[in-house]
Amino acid sequence: MVSRVIPVDSFDLVIFGGTGDLAKRKILPGLYRRFVSGQMNAVSRIIGAARADLNDASFRETVAGAIAEFGDKSLQDPAKIAEFLARIHYVPVDATGTNGWAQLAGHMRGGVVRAFYFSVAPNLFGDIAQRLHDHAIATPTSRIVVEKPFGRDLASARALNAVLAQHFTEDQIYRIDHYLGKETVQNLMAVRFANILFEPIWKAQYIDHVQITVAETVGVEGRGAYYDTSGAMRDMVQNHLMQLLCLIAMEPPYHFDPSAVRDEKLKVIRALRPVLPDEIVRGQYRASDVDEDYITHSENEGSRTESYIALKVHVANWRWQGTPFYLRTGKKLRARTSEIAITFKQPPHAIFDDVTGWNENVLVIRLQPNEGMTLSVMIKEPGPGGMRLMNVPLDMSFAEALGAAANDVPEAYERLIMDVIRGNQTLFMRGDEVEAAWAWTDPIINGWEARGDKPKQYDAGSSGPEDALMLMHRDGRRWREISL
Ligand code: BG6
Repeated sequence: MVSRVIPVDSFDLVIFGGTGDLAKRKILPGLYRRFVSGQMNAVSRIIGAARADLNDASFRETVAGAIAEFGDKSLQDPAKIAEFLARIHYVPVDATGTNGWAQLAGHMRGGVVRAFYFSVAPNLFGDIAQRLHDHAIATPTSRIVVEKPFGRDLASARALNAVLAQHFTEDQIYRIDHYLGKETVQNLMAVRFANILFEPIWKAQYIDHVQITVAETVGVEGRGAYYDTSGAMRDMVQNHLMQLLCLIAMEPPYHFDPSAVRDEKLKVIRALRPVLPDEIVRGQYRASDVDEDYITHSENEGSRTESYIALKVHVANWRWQGTPFYLRTGKKLRARTSEIAITFKQPPHAIFDDVTGWNENVLVIRLQPNEGMTLSVMIKEPGPGGMRLMNVPLDMSFAEALGAAANDVPEAYERLIMDVIRGNQTLFMRGDEVEAAWAWTDPIINGWEARGDKPKQYDAGSSGPEDALMLMHRDGRRWREISL
């Protein structure tokens, strides 16, 4: 199978915060990969813009270092890297001052797509937008890319939207949720809407419950200062898990285009019922023989921030009435695994007496690692001895099915940046979507803060707090194992 690389138009991409962590880890190595693949042409340029006093040559060294450290190990070709570095420039700018803006303005070219990546703290969005406008650097067709966290509650998200709206229209604003750029996340839409198979049974009548798990082995070391003011609810649920939930729960859009897809996701978010206190379990990792505790990593003695959260969520609409969605995510868990598991109901009438094994059909969509899908089905146990049943997986690993083409799959950030250049907003969050997500999130956080809830402890390297098990046990259900 040959993957098709469709080159994007020539562009100038300015990365504010070009020397920052995200730029080094994801954006620059990702762009290099797109360059090697031929998707970014040799006319396009990347312009780093930050406070550091660098020039083209020294920034190129930074970029080369980022490619060496975080880039694809199989693409470390010195000649290709040199070609890519020739497309890199740097302008020192002061986001809140006057320095550098005239120089940046002088650097921009006509006739190419102009995009500005705000890889900076949100409190700088307004200053940068204002200066791009004042110096006529941004044009009516320019695009801006903004990172999460997009606010920390509804009020701050609204304020950010308002600040950006002063100088940019909604169709110029690309709010990144990198989960939407993951290959398998998009596959969710393909599986649902490009097959006749699932959609007729994709409803409460046939689906018992849905589990969404994003488990990480990393802790908060090194980014405790940010994380401790955020917690798993703001850092992961309000955005990434919410997006996964939307793609599972949404109605079929009339077309795969930005408005249609985002309209349907918005309806899901608006249909979310408020979550009750006993439908939430928050956790914080404690020291174990695997690692130190959250308090040490966050450097905040007495912190009540959750590094783990499990929630029972209800989508209050016709399709999902009675089918709960259980969401959980956490740091310092046993394994790094993200998956969505859809458990179907039992057949209405059992004609077989003997049911060994788990009598359940479960469709598991694995986001990472080992992207793929498994559908467990009941079959007859082979051999003599009567009609005994067993549960077996129909397994599809995308890597196996796609062969070499699987290696060319762009990573989330790469794909999303290419979509910005193409002007395709389908995989980006619209302003009203982000606000609706906060409108659902705020009362949950305000509730536990008002109650003075403390997170439950769980061992670093475990599956999370015991109480999270109870969240499902009392409904007669159980979480799937967190394992590779
Ligand atoms: C980020 C969060 O948005 O997503 C991090 O801020 C988290 O805390 C990361 O580790 C997870 O992303 P991925 O792609 O590694 O699953």
